Amino acid sequence: MTQDELKTLVGQAALHYVVPGEIVGVGTGSTVNKFIDALATMKDRIAGAVSSSDASTQRLRGLGISVFDANEVGDLPVYIDGADEIDGAGCMIKGGGAALTREKIVAAQSRRFVCIVDESKQVQVLGRFPVPVEVIPMASQRLARQFAAMGGIARLRVKDGQPLVTDNGQHILDVAGLAISDPLRFESEVNQWPGVVTVGVFAHQKAAVCLLGTAAGVKTLLF
Ligand code: 5RP
Repeated sequence: MTQDELKTLVGQAALHYVVPGEIVGVGTGSTVNKFIDALATMKDRIAGAVSSSDASTQRLRGLGISVFDANEVGDLPVYIDGADEIDGAGCMIKGGGAALTREKIVAAQSRRFVCIVDESKQVQVLGRFPVPVEVIPMASQRLARQFAAMGGIARLRVKDGQPLVTDNGQHILDVAGLAISDPLRFESEVNQWPGVVTVGVFAHQKAAVCLLGTAAGVKTLLF
């Protein structure tokens, strides 16, 4: 099976976790796009969605699914999103699609995080994928030096020759060379640094369930 087919498989499998009559939290990325397409088949049985990016909002609305502002609604039963890496405890690296801040907000508003990934995303220790960190632009060089002091190499994410600007008007540092053996501690520490908006380690908002796309089908991992 191709990676794209595995993404389709887990996107469809995630429908099982959507609670009929309720609002579902929706992440961002190519795997979530498969989920959104599948969600359209049951759009008349859900109240709508809270979205984690302008891109997902556009796709949801394009398929006739109502999108609510996070402030208009209370807790959500479930949040469905992909990840760039997931470890054996359900901690993740996210933000490859630059949507990490809103993803963490919607995840925090949801009672259950269901992560949908193909098996290439499974790791023992987080850090093979450079950790995305959304930062206030004026702090980016100082923060790059702070990451260097812990052994990381931080690069400003660029798009079309210019620093990428997130949906929130901020920049992204991608930090390579870290082996994150204690994700909770790492997330807590980096969150304290002035100028950090969101660190792309999801340990406080980790997955409760992972639907893992494998050649043998979808495996369900519970954390
Ligand atoms: C976006 C994310 C995505 O969930 C992550 O990058 C995985 O994306 P994809 O499903 O395209 O591999 O965190 O900010």
